[in-house]
Amino acid sequence: MDMLEQDIERVLFTEEALRTRVQELAGQIDRDYAGREPILISVLRGSFVFMADLVRSITLPCTLDFMAVSSYGAGTTSSGQVKITKDLSESIEGKDVIVVEDILDSGNTLSYLLKLLQARHPASIRLCTLLDKPSRRTKPVEADYTGFSVDDLFVVGYGLDFAEKYRNLPYIGILKPCVYEEELVTAD
Ligand code: PRP
Ligand code: MN
Ligand code: MG
Repeated sequence: MDMLEQDIERVLFTEEALRTRVQELAGQIDRDYAGREPILISVLRGSFVFMADLVRSITLPCTLDFMAVSSYGAGTTSSGQVKITKDLSESIEGKDVIVVEDILDSGNTLSYLLKLLQARHPASIRLCTLLDKPSRRTKPVEADYTGFSVDDLFVVGYGLDFAEKYRNLPYIGILKPCVYEEELVTAD
């Protein structure tokens, strides 16, 4: 067993399950945007793997851009404040925007981001998230395309991190509690 794998309690979504679901989402986007040229915006860093797979299954002409955000006051109860650490390279005015996220959790990141992007007057804006944790929501954000709805489990892999690690796992797994409990103790 390799070093990352030993921290995983169990696999939640295999590479194959992810591939199948990502292809289905791409198929829906292909149908919904037929005749248009959407711009897909990846929210860094978590969404980079999903974005790369999703765009390779979309057959429509589309463009891409990237944005990076970080929440203020890491650790303690989030103030809900979000800071842009990398803005888009292109204008989205008059464009059909699809925001691509790895996970919709409290909704803090997305409620801020969607408001900000809306103010730039796109023709339309939709949200595509691979995972949704509806039980954790504190802001009223809903995705237009959802890969999987998940319980409140500590998921990592396929772009999702814990303490910046595990993003490179090709599947999504549940982290062993001892891993994050240990980390919390050492952080004190
Ligand atoms: C994670 C995830 C989403 C966000 C969801 O990003 O990738 O962007 O949190 O949580 P929310 O709905 O409670 O806002 P994170 O801030 O950990 O940064 P990362 O993408 O670089 O891992
Ligand atoms: Mn993120
Ligand atoms: Mg993260």
